Amino acid sequence: MPDDIQNEARSRWEALSQTGAGTPMGELLRRYWWPIAGASELAEPGTKPVRLMGEDLVLYKDLGGRYGLLDRHCRHRRADLSYGFVEACGLRCNYHGWLYDSDGSCLAQPYEDLAHPEARLKDEVRIKAYPVEALGGLLWAYLGPEPRPLVPDWEFFSWKNGFRQIVKAEIPCNWFQCQENSIDPVHFEWTHSNWSVRLAGAAGPYSPQHVKVDFSEFDYGFQYKRIRTDTSAEDRLWTIGRVCLWPNGLFTGNHVEFRVPIDDENTLSVMWHFSRVPHEQEPYVQNSIPTWQGPISDPVTGRWITSHVMNQDFVTWVGQGKVADRSKEYLGPSDRGIVMIRRRFLNDLEAIKDGKDPKGVIRDPEVNRAIALPVAERKNFIEGFSRAEIMRDPFSRRNLQGYIFQTGQPPEVREAFLAAMGFSEAELEPEPQAFDPLAPAPRT
Ligand code: FES
Ligand SMILES: [Fe+2]
Repeated sequence: MPDDIQNEARSRWEALSQTGAGTPMGELLRRYWWPIAGASELAEPGTKPVRLMGEDLVLYKDLGGRYGLLDRHCRHRRADLSYGFVEACGLRCNYHGWLYDSDGSCLAQPYEDLAHPEARLKDEVRIKAYPVEALGGLLWAYLGPEPRPLVPDWEFFSWKNGFRQIVKAEIPCNWFQCQENSIDPVHFEWTHSNWSVRLAGAAGPYSPQHVKVDFSEFDYGFQYKRIRTDTSAEDRLWTIGRVCLWPNGLFTGNHVEFRVPIDDENTLSVMWHFSRVPHEQEPYVQNSIPTWQGPISDPVTGRWITSHVMNQDFVTWVGQGKVADRSKEYLGPSDRGIVMIRRRFLNDLEAIKDGKDPKGVIRDPEVNRAIALPVAERKNFIEGFSRAEIMRDPFSRRNLQGYIFQTGQPPEVREAFLAAMGFSEAELEPEPQAFDPLAPAPRT
């Protein structure tokens, strides 16, 4: 790696893993909306405890259908509001009945209101409250200063004729090392392709090697591009590549992975996945997007699960330690993208000191309409394919045979997926040959 990168003050990089309120990076991260749950997790009114960037909160939907995100602990004597009960408007503490609205105001204090109405104590009481919005089947929270920006309306949220699912996992390490994986093309060859060969008990053949990678910045993130020994500069993975979505995601076309800081040492992985239904199933409208959370360790051995794509990623992230020690790493040329995103965050720490917005903050409603992103296999998701075409394509077929991205998919989600796709389990008998999702494909 060039000297300027090796010599970058490591102490500056330490700041990047902080998420708490009052830390420079914690304040920067609070300028963005974060996905904290699937809307289907609160299909009915109720509460859900949430920890986000070190803050213990309670997410709720009241009987009027409004969302709120409040301090986990009641402003009165600190009871746990995730055991509170939702009302026509707001969330009521189960200890003495204080009732809060989603803006943090106190609407009722039953004893005080009755016995001392003249005191109007509730007028002085406020509880910590943050805004919540629903978009794309996800619930988003904003913990930053007003005026709040817009929740980014990425184009894939409005793609038609797709079966969508939201898949979560809790990862016991800092979010930023997870996000660095969003701009790491070479890991795919080893963490996924070659390791899978070895996990299957074979010693080869290995995947085609990466021979060239490139990284570039655009308004909403960075693109990374690759050429392998089996592809050329004509391939879609070089002309378009993949997207490190700002500030917290990896977008590959059929899914986006968000890395959400629970606190400095834990991350909520939130994947939003899109499966285009065959032409024969159109028009397909999905009324509710299922949300499920998968395990990451094997209860028998206590070891991390290695069988699925994202589980393999999780192993690499947690393996770097609770918070990766960047003073001990030795960067190579393939890490140039990682250095680029670190520098972008460091530069934006300065920008917000000057009162500017950091990268990728969207405030213009005209801009925020199905924002287009680079999509290497766009035709696959927009135009789609017939059943016969899907069955002929090894990658599409493999995606039908079982959920390859994360372990633990509930049977009812599998059933709903197959029903949406119009296939039966019996039609999808696994075939012996391996598949390679990065292989050159004429599908563009
Ligand atoms: S602790 Fe919540 S109302 Fe008393
Ligand atoms: Fe990966």
